[in-house]
Amino acid sequence: MSTRAVYPGSFDPLTNGHLDLIERSLRIFDELVVAVVTNPAKTGLFADAERVEMIREATEGFRAIEVVIFDGLLVDLVARVGARAIIRGLRAVSDFEYEFQMALMNRKLREEIETVFLMPHEAYSYISSRLIKEVAGYGGRVTGLVPPGVEKRLLAKLPRR
Ligand code: PNS
Repeated sequence: MSTRAVYPGSFDPLTNGHLDLIERSLRIFDELVVAVVTNPAKTGLFADAERVEMIREATEGFRAIEVVIFDGLLVDLVARVGARAIIRGLRAVSDFEYEFQMALMNRKLREEIETVFLMPHEAYSYISSRLIKEVAGYGGRVTGLVPPGVEKRLLAKLPRR
């Protein structure tokens, strides 16, 4: 029986840290569903469809990967797609408290689903989508921190300074 996991997140936008986790997940699980949480308040920089497109572009050629948009409870999506695990990244201890709370709440909601924490390569431990947007917004270079397609879209979207 093949094993399937869900890697959820905002991905606004995808970073090389996320991409690293996708690759690591595919070393453990047979199939991966990358689940982009919908942003009903539209407060993100990128629209849902753009965030999905950027992930699809960056993972072209990867085997056994599917990218979906979701709203509602994450554990319901995990059950719906027949997965048994949720992948989350831990970059530093500071991530832990929030992640621990979410993992335990998700376990309370559906105890058959496990959360699996993976560490991205240490070269990516300081990268977050929030910082990427801030740096790019002030005209800083984000080359090597996000996939080339994401960098291009950031440059196109953010006003030049
Ligand atoms: O990339 P993020 O913003 O840290 O991802 C957070 C995400 C999408 C995993 C979390 O907000 C989530 O699971 N949202 C779906 C709604 C839900 O199930 N909430 C209860 C989580 S315990």
